[in-house]
Amino acid sequence: MARKITFKIFRFNPYDEGSSPFQQEYKLEETPRLNLFSALNIIRDEQDPTLMFDFVCRAGICGSCAMMINGRPTLACRTLTSDLPETIELFPLPFFKMLGDLSVDTGVWFRGISERLESWIHTDGTFDTKSVEKLMDNELANEIYEADRCIECGSCVSGCATANVYPDFLGATGLNRIARYMIDPRDMRDNEAWFELVSTYEGVFGCIGMMACEDVCPKNIPLLDTFSRVRRLMIETGLSSKSTLLKTHS
Ligand code: FES
Repeated sequence: MARKITFKIFRFNPYDEGSSPFQQEYKLEETPRLNLFSALNIIRDEQDPTLMFDFVCRAGICGSCAMMINGRPTLACRTLTSDLPETIELFPLPFFKMLGDLSVDTGVWFRGISERLESWIHTDGTFDTKSVEKLMDNELANEIYEADRCIECGSCVSGCATANVYPDFLGATGLNRIARYMIDPRDMRDNEAWFELVSTYEGVFGCIGMMACEDVCPKNIPLLDTFSRVRRLMIETGLSSKSTLLKTHS
């Protein structure tokens, strides 16, 4: 017999002065292979058109549907109700600006990270549309691709103890992003430039190694390996550079 699922969903509209946070209950009959994307749409279509949540791709690619599902940040579109107990509690991701109910604005934070890290290729080469494309070693291209698989859903930051205490912390996603540019030979920034950018407690030395980011990453990106590499390189750079470099960050 099909299960009857109880959803307890966080409700709050920060733009409505009369709104205060509460949990609202909805009930739904479970169907085979029902995921939370479909469940929330059925609830909105049949029970409550005011319910706010975000989805775009339904395929684990856009990252917009991340939310707290029974206390764990992850993608709603990739979560089957059959993998969860009969009572499902949904909350918006902490850390990000709340837009309403389960919807948060991750875009402003990610844009800020992009600008802070200047996460684009820094080169003084000129772009010649007629030149032949420069080939890259396959192994290196795959390594860059591995870091580029991040869909910026915000799950890692929401699950991170440091990020939730220090809002300026770059978080797993920011450090993963910088690691991606560090290994890209087209980016001409050197180790001292990277040091200036991330060798702080808001950067690579803020991570206390609780591993939640890697645990909750829906794309299984090996974030801890990446951090270790960046941290080791930054320590080596700090030790081998002039004392002024160390003084700046003491
Ligand atoms: S809707 Fe795009 S990742 Fe879930």
